[in-house]
This record gives sequence, structure tokens and C-alpha cells, in this order.
Amino acid sequence: MGEYHIKGGQRLSGQLSIYGAKNAVLPMLAAVVLNKGISVIHNCPRISDTFMVIKILKAIGADVKMEGTTITIDSTGADNYEVPEKYVREMRSSIIFLGSVLGRFGQVKISYPGGCELGARPIDLHLKGIRQLGANIVEEGGFIVAEAAKLKGARIDLDFPSVGATENIMLAAVLAEGRTIISNAAKEPEIVDMQNFLCAMGAKVSGAGKDTIVIDGVKNLHDVEYTVMPDRIVAGTYLTAAAITGGELLLTNVSPSHLHPITSKLAETGCEIKTEKTRVYLKAPKELKPIERLRTHPHPGFPTDMQPQLMALLSTAKGMSIVEETVFESRNKHISELIRMGANIVLLQDGMTSVVTGVKKLQGANVICRDLRGGAALILAGLAAEGKTVVTNSVFVERGYVDIEEDLRIIGADICYVK
Ligand code: UD1
Repeated sequence: MGEYHIKGGQRLSGQLSIYGAKNAVLPMLAAVVLNKGISVIHNCPRISDTFMVIKILKAIGADVKMEGTTITIDSTGADNYEVPEKYVREMRSSIIFLGSVLGRFGQVKISYPGGCELGARPIDLHLKGIRQLGANIVEEGGFIVAEAAKLKGARIDLDFPSVGATENIMLAAVLAEGRTIISNAAKEPEIVDMQNFLCAMGAKVSGAGKDTIVIDGVKNLHDVEYTVMPDRIVAGTYLTAAAITGGELLLTNVSPSHLHPITSKLAETGCEIKTEKTRVYLKAPKELKPIERLRTHPHPGFPTDMQPQLMALLSTAKGMSIVEETVFESRNKHISELIRMGANIVLLQDGMTSVVTGVKKLQGANVICRDLRGGAALILAGLAAEGKTVVTNSVFVERGYVDIEEDLRIIGADICYVK
């Protein structure tokens, strides 16, 4: 397993272009199973999660090629409705194949993803929604076995706007008979991108980005060519890297409106933010201000996937901030590592609320990465710290960032990846 070695204290400055979004490409790669034809997807990030989904597609019988950042999938000959357990266990979000494989074959066998680094992460809303479309689902021996002679459109009210459940239901409904209405749907930009992708493939979907999504089932889909939206979490991570080092950064190939929940919080810390059509510029203040209350929430709230990085930033602000994680109960594993680096963070008894009192300087230390965004936060802390930081367990970071060390080096960081 690799590690990142960082010599802190360099002020980052420069320009970076942002690649395609992990959380958009994964559901699209599940959606292609529904298409008995060819799908070409551009701007796919070369990260381990993408490679894992390609393995699943191949196991299902699809023909897949990745050249550069373009993936071409021919799903015509797909013939296997069993999603291999070893892949589902490694990547929880592969549960997204439940809806698409069921939609294509009328049956699916997929392993229960189990717990993971962010807590229990149940899938009850996925199962409830797909049952409402008429599937018979049995959970036995750690597997989910679903079948439906014909899925039928239904009205589904989600108890919580779960991203994965919304996507799974959308996928199962694309080829179902009649109309499906999902209310209290997730509104994340990746859901809108997925709707655009499905429509480009011949599906009839509308409403994504709002509370209610309507899917009118169609009989067939057709060949498609599509470009994935930019990754707003990667963009937010890099902006925060510039902010924590007192630097400045211009990002190109981004959607400023997707980034607004993040940039508005960075502005509260005193960063100057300027946006243009597909660009965002950030200039850090001399001294970062705390945020009275940073609360994670489904989109358009502040994204949970940026909470650890902002917590690292606030550890160096002048004053006290309150950070409240409301989406994932176990998304706080970075706290003990930040404390090793000299941060002053107290996690309250509820396990979700942290009091972060900024310190003048973080100190370099050996720290362990325990999840994807927590790992990114430790790298950012290392950039700002005095002395050397070693972040071990790079495997988590590689799930969501393409050569993060290379990008940070381009803008002036002293960081290298050691195998
Ligand atoms: C997706 C993103 C992840 C992001 C999260 C929230 C992908 C591949 N991953 O994850 O990066 O952090 O959205 O923005 O797109 N829940 C239930 N029952 C369910 C489903 C979810 O209780 O059936 C709960 C979860 O335990 C969690 C919350 O709902 O507490 C949010 O989960 P969800 O929106 O489903 O996130 P994911 O789709 O897993």
C-alpha cells in the first residue's frame, strides 16, 4: 500500500483542470447494462472505483474497453445476472447494479454490501423502492435475490433523499411498464447528469435536480455517446488545499453552480472567490476565519464529502467553529489523526458534532488514512503543517482522486507518493 510524503509550508498557486466525476460515472456504468448496444462515455476518471466497475461489467458479460478517459461498452452480449460477490464487497456503491441488472434480465443476484468505513450504510430504501416496482426480493445467506417478470411503474416516496436509492430506482424504472414517480428524490448534480445520460440513451426521465423525478418506461434504448460532468468534490478539495496554504488557485472545467455550497463556505472563511462560466478562482486571506456552524446536508446543502477537508481547514482558522455531520454517522475517523497533527478538535458525545478551535500551526506527523475524503483531509493538513507528514493507506485516496500528488505538485506542493 502506498503513502504520501508531504513537506508542509509551501504556498500553493497556479491552475488545474478538473476531471470527470466519480459519483456520476459509476451509476452511468451501471446504466449501460440496460442498453443492448454500444455506450461511449468520455471524461471518465482513471481511479480504482472506475476500474472496479469495469470488472463488474465484464463479469456480467459486457465487452468493455478503456482508452485514456473514454470507456466504450458493448452490452449486447451481456448474459449474467449474478454480480460477483468479491467486487460488491470491495465497493459498496456497486449495489447500483441491483436496479440495472434487474431491469435488463428480470432477475439479479447480488451480495449484500455489508458495513463499510462510513458506518452501517443500510440499503433499505433501495430495496423498498424496487419492491414497489413489483420485484420479489429475497435476502438470504448474505445475498439479495430479486426477480420480476415485468417491473411496473409506481409512486415511490423516499423517506430520505438517498443518492444511491434514487439512482437504483431510476435505473429499474427505465424499462419498466408505465410511469414511476420518485418523490423526495436526491437532488445532487450527479443525479441530473445521470438523467441526461439516460435521456441521451432514449429513456424518458424528467425532474432530476428537483424533489420529484418522473420516469416513463420505454421498450428499448439505443447507442449513446456522453461526456461526464466535472467532479465537484475534487474541485472543492483542491480549492481547500489552496486555502489552507494561504494560496490562490484557478480551476478550469468546473461547474460553478455545482460548487456553490462549497465556495460559499470557503468565502465565509475569508477566501475571495470569483466564478466565470466554467472556471472558479480562489484567493486565500492572510488569516482564515472560523465558520460558526458547518452542517452537512443533502444537496443543495453542504456536501458530506467535503466535511473532512473543511475540518482540516478550520483547524487552522482563528477562532472556534462547529462542524456537524448529519449524513454519515461514522464520518469522523480523520479527527483522531488531525489531533495527532496538533489540531484542537473535540467530538461531542453525540458522535456527530465537533468543536474545532483553530491552532496557529499544525505539526507534521505519521497519520493513517481510513476513508477516501478523510484521507484527502489529512493530505491538506500535511500541506499546511510544519515539518514532514506521512499519510499511509493511500488506497482509499486512490478510489476517488487521479494522481492527487501530481496535481498538488503542479501548483507548488512538496509531496510525493511512495509505494
Ligand atoms: C453517495 C455518494 C457518496 C456521498 C453520499 C451522500 C456515490 C457513489 N456515493 O453515497 O460519495 O457521500 O451519496 O452525498 O454516489 N441510507 C439509508 N438507507 C438506504 C440508503 C441510504 O438509511 O437505503 C442512509 C445512509 O446510511 C446515509 C444516508 O442515507 O446515512 C445517505 O446515503 P446515500 O445518499 O444513499 O449515499 P450513497 O448513495 O451511499
